[in-house]
Amino acid sequence: MTQDRSTEDAQSAHTPRAEDYCPTGPGTPAGRYLRRFWQPVYHSVDLAPGRAQRVRIMSQDYTLYRGDGGDAFLVDSRCPHRGALLSLGWVEGDCIRCMYHGWRFDGAGQCVEQPTEDSEFAHKVRIGGYPVREYLGLVFAYLGDGDAPEFPRYPEFESFEGLIEIDSYSRDCNYFQNVENALDMSHVGFVHGDNRVAFSGIGFGRALQADESDWGVTYVFTRSDGKKRVQQFGMPNIFYMMALPNDDDIGWQESLFWWVPVDDLHHMQFSIHRIPVTGGAAERIRDRRQARRAEIDLPHQEVCLDIIAGRLRMSDVDGGRVDMVRLQDDVAQLGQGLVADRSRERLGRSDVGLIEIRKLWRRELAGLLEDRPLKHWKRSAGLCPQAWGLGGAPPVTGGGQTGPAAVDLVDVRPYVEMAQQLRLLSGVEAEA
Ligand code: FES
Ligand SMILES: [Fe+2]
Repeated sequence: MTQDRSTEDAQSAHTPRAEDYCPTGPGTPAGRYLRRFWQPVYHSVDLAPGRAQRVRIMSQDYTLYRGDGGDAFLVDSRCPHRGALLSLGWVEGDCIRCMYHGWRFDGAGQCVEQPTEDSEFAHKVRIGGYPVREYLGLVFAYLGDGDAPEFPRYPEFESFEGLIEIDSYSRDCNYFQNVENALDMSHVGFVHGDNRVAFSGIGFGRALQADESDWGVTYVFTRSDGKKRVQQFGMPNIFYMMALPNDDDIGWQESLFWWVPVDDLHHMQFSIHRIPVTGGAAERIRDRRQARRAEIDLPHQEVCLDIIAGRLRMSDVDGGRVDMVRLQDDVAQLGQGLVADRSRERLGRSDVGLIEIRKLWRRELAGLLEDRPLKHWKRSAGLCPQAWGLGGAPPVTGGGQTGPAAVDLVDVRPYVEMAQQLRLLSGVEAEA
């Protein structure tokens, strides 16, 4: 009996369970795994030159600042002298100076000045400094140990004639619920059943297929007429899909999402859409989107809490003032619990997508815990989303319209949601 138990313990020590995907603080299995990949942590437009911000990512606080020269830097949150918040200090050139006693640090975290010390020991003082790269309107950082891996690029989004919309949002539950929701097409007809672009029969279990790819999971829905919708999940927390058409000038739009934990109960979805339209259509889209971002004056996260508490019904929500799709997903995902209890689930055929994601995560986490080599995920050119014959304009996938034009980045985040995101990322929300 004793022996059985110790064998079981030894096995379970290396057998990640569903709940192991959820906590991502320093030292947790999922936290260690996610930190091995470049992650978006902020929006470039939210970081002004000469300004510093405290940023919380995966339950760890950092100081993100933009030097006077325009480059972004990420270092630890606190000054090693007496623990003051470096984000409250002053940006000087590419350095940051602590507001308490003036110690100054360079962008790699090296202390370079201690104005109150007669005999300086700055060269012995160093805090964490993390590689940063700005790309497609987002600030990416490598938060793991050792050298950063190669930066993954998306050539389709880099250069084409059209717009890239930045459309991120936050959600107040564990990030993995949103990861799983992506490869759960069956929810669309119910959670978003009132959406004009939802159609009956979407996401029947027997029509869904999920297979491991070089990058993660290829998720295919085949309609009864044989037409397919293909979506690509990239390990560990990326999604490349064709989003449903939601504007008369836009057909299916290629979208890239990253789900990044702020802490275990809150996450960001960093989202960009590639919209290959120019001229008058681009102008019309731009105008409509700018009008819409001001019209939305209710944060979906707050409306969601009213619905979950029973103070409000979904049918009573004014869709003009809130992003309904996000609200619908909020209600479904927060309704599962802030960290869903997966131990009592009854999964079926329609859950093949999330079953496949969990399988890969379990395998990789087990490898990580046992110090085995992990799969090197890489998106080859062929791994693109596709949507055929499902309405909207003919889709353009895989960078079919790439050209020399510089891409126009357009921020379409509703103003109330931007404020929400900045509060959340600063760590203040989670501390309240
Ligand atoms: S706490 Fe930063 S210099 Fe003293
Ligand atoms: Fe949804």
